[in-house]
Amino acid sequence: MTVTPLTIRGFRIWKGWLDAAAQAELIAALRPVLKAAPLYRPATPRGKKMSVRMTSAGQCGWFSDAAGYRYIDHHPSGAPWPAIPEPVLKIWRSLGDGDRMPECCLVNYYDSEAKLGLHQDKDEADFSYPVLSISLGDDGLFRMGGDRRGGPTESVWLNSGDVVTMGGEARLAYHGVDRIRFGSSRLLPKGGRLNLTLRVVT
Ligand code: SIN
Ligand code: MN
Repeated sequence: MTVTPLTIRGFRIWKGWLDAAAQAELIAALRPVLKAAPLYRPATPRGKKMSVRMTSAGQCGWFSDAAGYRYIDHHPSGAPWPAIPEPVLKIWRSLGDGDRMPECCLVNYYDSEAKLGLHQDKDEADFSYPVLSISLGDDGLFRMGGDRRGGPTESVWLNSGDVVTMGGEARLAYHGVDRIRFGSSRLLPKGGRLNLTLRVVT
């Protein structure tokens, strides 16, 4: 476990924050979430299906379609979003914000081909709270920029068990995932990468 984060462009990267047992506990806690709220591929406002599959836990879930990016209070099937599992909340208590708990845990699943273009997380009402990201499974190449599209970027491989906090100057910074090193981890039986992002939304 790291006690001081690697800091790149204001992104605080807690390498190896979760040991193998903590990672396995998270996967077990996520299984019923994925059962109650199956992964789906959102469409961008321009109508292109995203390669990343997503679902959410919490009071609201992140969603996108022709009507735009937003949070919605039910899974697209109409089912309620499941609660954010306790082992996930525990990480927020350690590295997130002390005043408020997250209202959304967005779950992203990357298969061997999936990637996530550079974007800002700005569908939330208050940017004074950090976004906290948890990486599980295969390695993902995470790209970090600044608050302007087209500016300089730096990349780091995120490994299973790494936690990143995007707060302060990094809260509205562009970020994305260029590629997955498929099969680099044995945490998920079918391979791939799961990323959880915890967000205060309202
Ligand atoms: C995200 O920006 O929503 C996810 C980032 C990641 O998968 O590491
Ligand atoms: Mn994001």
